[in-house]
Amino acid sequence: MRIGVFDSGIGGLTVLKELIKYHKNQEYIYFGDTQNLPYGVKSKEELFDIVCKVIDFLISEDVKIIFIACGTVSSTIYQELRQKYKIPIVNIIDTTIAEIRRNKITDLAVLATPATIGSHIFKNKLNDINVMEISCSQFVPIIEDKVDKKFKKIYIEQYLKEVKKERIKDIVLGCTHYPLLEDDIKAYLGEVNCYNMGTVLARSTYLKPDKEDLKVYFSHKYDGLDIKVNNILERKIDIIEKQI
Ligand code: DGL
Repeated sequence: MRIGVFDSGIGGLTVLKELIKYHKNQEYIYFGDTQNLPYGVKSKEELFDIVCKVIDFLISEDVKIIFIACGTVSSTIYQELRQKYKIPIVNIIDTTIAEIRRNKITDLAVLATPATIGSHIFKNKLNDINVMEISCSQFVPIIEDKVDKKFKKIYIEQYLKEVKKERIKDIVLGCTHYPLLEDDIKAYLGEVNCYNMGTVLARSTYLKPDKEDLKVYFSHKYDGLDIKVNNILERKIDIIEKQI
């Protein structure tokens, strides 16, 4: 079955990587919308218009199911997308919420984009446990080289000092870019358990094995993008640039 996976940029590759790890024999089409990055500071209306173009493109590539590899889209416009499209669309957040419930977590920190934090999706769906919500607006620009890496440490400390102070040990990486900062987050916080939403989704999804294929599209190929993509997926990929 041809599967569409998308995000605003390289973050969704952390999801794709896990899907490939658990479901190797599938035909994946990835779309990273680097032209419209970041998604996490856009209004719902603006985001909906952009994301419909991405979904229309994936449908034109004949995908049969779409995985939203983006916390921002999943937390803000998922219902609207389900209403508009007939094709099955899977969000990235529900399986992580179910996993947190299964693990009987009582104190949780959620790191995510301003839009996801603004939706309070984790707090609302886990309203019987203690959820600390932290908006990390500069993480995506740092990961996508829009902000100088030398600020990384400063922002990590700024966003995570409360988590450290409260000694919260379970952290949801509520934006799919953030697994790319997991080592830095752990270096600052020490022994913590980070939930990678891509891993949780891939582990809890059943896909009937099919032929193996991978195509990777980005709407804007910036300098150094190839290296990042190859590093994340641990293989050489020929990126196709496709404006939508
Ligand atoms: N990786 C996305 C998310 O999970 C989008 C981040 C952004 O573009 O702001 O929220």
